[in-house]
Amino acid sequence: MEIIETNELGFTYPSNEDQVVTPALKDINIKIKKGEFVSIVGENGSGKSTLAKHFNTLNIPTEGICYVLSYNTADESKKWDIRKEVGMVFQNPDNQIVATIVEEDVAFGPENLGMPQENIRLEVDKALRVVGMEDFAKKEPHMLSGGQKQRVAIAGILAMNPAVIVFDEATAMLDPKGKREVMETAHMLNKEQGITIINITHFMEEVVYSDRVIVLNNGELYMEGTPQEVFAKEKEIVSVGLELPLAAKLASLLRSKGVNISENVLTLEEMVKQLCPLI
Ligand SMILES: Nc1ncnc2c1ncn2[C@@H]1O[C@H](COP(=O)(O)OP(=O)(O)O)[C@@H](O)[C@H]1O
Ligand SMILES: [Mg+2]
Repeated sequence: MEIIETNELGFTYPSNEDQVVTPALKDINIKIKKGEFVSIVGENGSGKSTLAKHFNTLNIPTEGICYVLSYNTADESKKWDIRKEVGMVFQNPDNQIVATIVEEDVAFGPENLGMPQENIRLEVDKALRVVGMEDFAKKEPHMLSGGQKQRVAIAGILAMNPAVIVFDEATAMLDPKGKREVMETAHMLNKEQGITIINITHFMEEVVYSDRVIVLNNGELYMEGTPQEVFAKEKEIVSVGLELPLAAKLASLLRSKGVNISENVLTLEEMVKQLCPLI
């Protein structure tokens, strides 16, 4: 079994009155492998956050099953085992900070897990080093940039030694530098520590560097594949309210004007490589 698997997963939010509510997720079958870097994309309201919250038991399927590390997430007795292993970084950096000093904030998760005090010290120092925030350990979080706050949030998760980190539009409120910091950290954790990364995003430039892309539309799995496979289907991507990465858009435009550029171009570096010989 893979690190995350869903089997005909469906989810309907409870309604307060007797009004009819449509399911937020329907028949979702996905598998995420250990060590993979997966992007989840889809229009606003397509169900991305609702799905992500299943991965750490914030949501429990109302239909079907969700397995995380082979545990059925509906098994209440496994809730904290799962939450320890699956960290989530959310969109608003200010909503995730709970302490007034950076290192205390990072210690919050392991303290909740009941980790011995001397281990917490070690884990906090290590986590801050890994995200490059060790010089800010004694600082007040509100003094930090958005990107730095998100890195502190990541350190708080790392201090619990997770198997998976889910980023739910964690770069949406950041400036370009902050976006870059967070994405570079995510890729570093994936490559160097083998942490499975799930990145929910609206930015197609971020998607290009993932192993696999899952496209949601209207609560259903619309498409999945490598970035190459998914972005080769320009019409379908546009039809569900998404767009191609800039380089792919440019390549498509140039092809329509008769310039000979391959369908696989997703980054500006690849674009330059293909264009130079033509000049
Ligand atoms: N707490 C909630 N209660 C009721 N409906 C919700 C709640 N959160 C999300 N929804 C609905 O579920 C659907 C999927 O939302 P969401 O998972 O937030 O999408 P996304 O993250 O892709 O923007 C939407 O129709 C949304 O209105
Ligand atoms: Mg969302």
